[in-house]
Amino acid sequence: MSSLLLLLQAHGAYLLDEGFSRRREYEVIVSEISSCRKCPLHRYRKNTVPGEGPLDASVMVVGEAPGRREDEEGRPFVGAAGKLLDALLELAGLSRGAVYITNIVKCRPPGNRDPKEEEIEACIPYLLRQIALIKPKLVIAVGRHAARTLYRLAGLQWTSMTRLHGRLVDAKLAGVSVKIIATYHPAAALYKPPLRRVLEDDFKGPIKRAVELALGLRGERRAGSLLDFLGQS
Ligand code: URA
Ligand code: SF4
Repeated sequence: MSSLLLLLQAHGAYLLDEGFSRRREYEVIVSEISSCRKCPLHRYRKNTVPGEGPLDASVMVVGEAPGRREDEEGRPFVGAAGKLLDALLELAGLSRGAVYITNIVKCRPPGNRDPKEEEIEACIPYLLRQIALIKPKLVIAVGRHAARTLYRLAGLQWTSMTRLHGRLVDAKLAGVSVKIIATYHPAAALYKPPLRRVLEDDFKGPIKRAVELALGLRGERRAGSLLDFLGQS
């Protein structure tokens, strides 16, 4: 067999192995979440909602907290807000299946109240581990709580959604260089219809451009990983 073929085979095995260990580490995070009692929200939940999507996704969506439907199904954004999110993602050229979707807190706050600061604090290590594992290029923060929490974690100054929605910023989260873009929560547009237009414009405009950038960068990184491998061998 030619040495090039051997090399490509070895590289394939290397990528496969990386995929397996990523999956294993992910299962550890999910299982820790499922038995977590680090904050009072564990008392009210039917199911934990760790998140879902490809573990090598270039784009991650971070929402606020599971609602009633999400709590029942153990999956993020499956209710009415989730339907709207799916449609918005399409406007940015993304199918739901291509993105990793999760929330700032993994258990439903009773009566859909906002998560409290100490609950966010208790839960955020899980999100940081998900980011470290998945290494997204772009994080779309939906809603004020997700946005201000991610800005704070990145050491960025949050002011208001009115000022910062649709703005792409460079950040480092869990040691990963990402871009963050904040927008309104789709649930907000359900009870305040004029917001829907603003959300649609964000997804059609700045978010779509940020997604294209993220997908392009991803290509560069894939090529880089073969070079890294050649360097190591
Ligand atoms: N709203 C959120 O912020 N997250 C969900 O998963 C569902 C609704
Ligand atoms: Fe644990 Fe997060 Fe659920 Fe609180 S919300 S119990 S920290 S998983």
